[in-house]
Amino acid sequence: MRKIFLLAAILSSGMSRSQNTVVLQADKGKDIINRNIYGHFAEHLGHCIYGGFYVGDNNTKIPNKDGIRLDVIDALKKLKVPVLRWPGGCFADTYHWKDGIGPKDKRPSMLNVWWGNVKEDNSFGTNEFLNMCEMLGAEPYLSGNVGSGTPQELSDWVKYTTHINGTSPMTDLRQQNGRANPWHVKYWGLGNEAWGCGGNMKPEWYANVYRQYATFMTSWSNTDRIFRIASGASDADYNWTETLMRDIPHNMLDAVGVHHYSVISWNKKGSATGFSEEEYYTTMQRALEMEELVSRHSAVMDKYDPRKRIAIAVDEWGGWYDVEPGTNGAFLFQQNTMRDAMIAGATLNIFNNHCDRVRMANLAQIINVLQAVILTNEEKMILTPTYHVMEMYNVHQDATMLPVSVTSADYKMGKEKLKAISASASRDKNGLTHISLVNIDANNPQEVSINIEGGNYKNVSGRILTSDKMQNYNSFDNPGRIKPAAFNGAALSDSKLKLTLPPFSVVVLELK
Ligand code: AHR
Repeated sequence: MRKIFLLAAILSSGMSRSQNTVVLQADKGKDIINRNIYGHFAEHLGHCIYGGFYVGDNNTKIPNKDGIRLDVIDALKKLKVPVLRWPGGCFADTYHWKDGIGPKDKRPSMLNVWWGNVKEDNSFGTNEFLNMCEMLGAEPYLSGNVGSGTPQELSDWVKYTTHINGTSPMTDLRQQNGRANPWHVKYWGLGNEAWGCGGNMKPEWYANVYRQYATFMTSWSNTDRIFRIASGASDADYNWTETLMRDIPHNMLDAVGVHHYSVISWNKKGSATGFSEEEYYTTMQRALEMEELVSRHSAVMDKYDPRKRIAIAVDEWGGWYDVEPGTNGAFLFQQNTMRDAMIAGATLNIFNNHCDRVRMANLAQIINVLQAVILTNEEKMILTPTYHVMEMYNVHQDATMLPVSVTSADYKMGKEKLKAISASASRDKNGLTHISLVNIDANNPQEVSINIEGGNYKNVSGRILTSDKMQNYNSFDNPGRIKPAAFNGAALSDSKLKLTLPPFSVVVLELK
């Protein structure tokens, strides 16, 4: 009787003791987590390409191969970057790829009108990008110019990059530029943000334009079939997705994009480092909206494609804040704190859990722009907390997703609340199971019980990323302040795991 009374008192007082339960269905894996969910995005914007990836052929002390920074390549190889989207973004719909091939001193310059009106000398072009992808071991995803280009121009780009030798003028051109064999270029975007910087089109109009461009982009040869990605909706514009699914023949459509940024407000984004808990909370609210976005876009697609052949590619996502003080406002250079680690961990859990439909995602952007994994300053390079989350999570790439259901305590802010805990799990080709857990609560540690169904594990180990303040970041003076550490706090007995997640932390467990 006393026990019942005590339980009732605890429930009515709202005390939060161990309300976090995760049920892991270890024998119910069905869908593969496409490694491309861990993809990236590189635009001709600020110092993403120039100074980030590419230091050029000039005399520089920064170690490089053909102008590509070797420190960056080494770091990104450890991340296992599966796919890299280029050259934009808004820039893509102003880019004419033929300006970026051939002898560099003959390449014309252009103004980068979207990003600060700076001179783009086209010294980093198609050959440089595709060779760099080969160095990285990443698949290229070329974003074609539909806003101000022509179907001929895009069709020529497909031929230049993928057509096997023959009599085609484009293969001759490629050979003149020193590349005999085609590259492997499977992923092609048909424009970017066609509803905005890519041409301010209505969805019906874009669907027609898409059909026209896609017609002239067939593989043309016995190269791999190309994979065509439609410029997708902004955030919750479900009508955009519906129109594309209805109006574009499905034999010319492989994926539909979605863009979503975790921004507090477009008028007042706030500092990347000097933010309050309220701002942190709002950012997390925006990030967790991804769950509803991918669910609802996918539900719209289900009406036209119930077998889920057409994928969602969330080809831009991440946190967006004010630029670092003293830097060019158009270059979108921002620092990266534990808040960004929370966005990354929680968002990747969402993508993993929706891997039946979300089969590509591209964090915006890879170096020196928005939620970057790498920041550079001349010869210095640092890895951000977001880098570390993506590295810890790369165990999920191409693994079989294991369903989890999470009952979470609330992270409260005034009258509002978010779920504190998120999780995802997978089993890799070697039979190892990985569970990634995130606690976004800014103040409270969270006890988590994981009930394992259909699995028998003997051993658990793990890694954790956390810090003593959520505003902490890695700087050029203190590059190792935030990095993963071994996590020995998980106790496994029978089919139960117990652990406590510190406030704003990410943990990845390995079970065998
Ligand atoms: O990532 C920065 C910009 O954000 C991209 O160029 C554009 O597609 C989006 O609006």
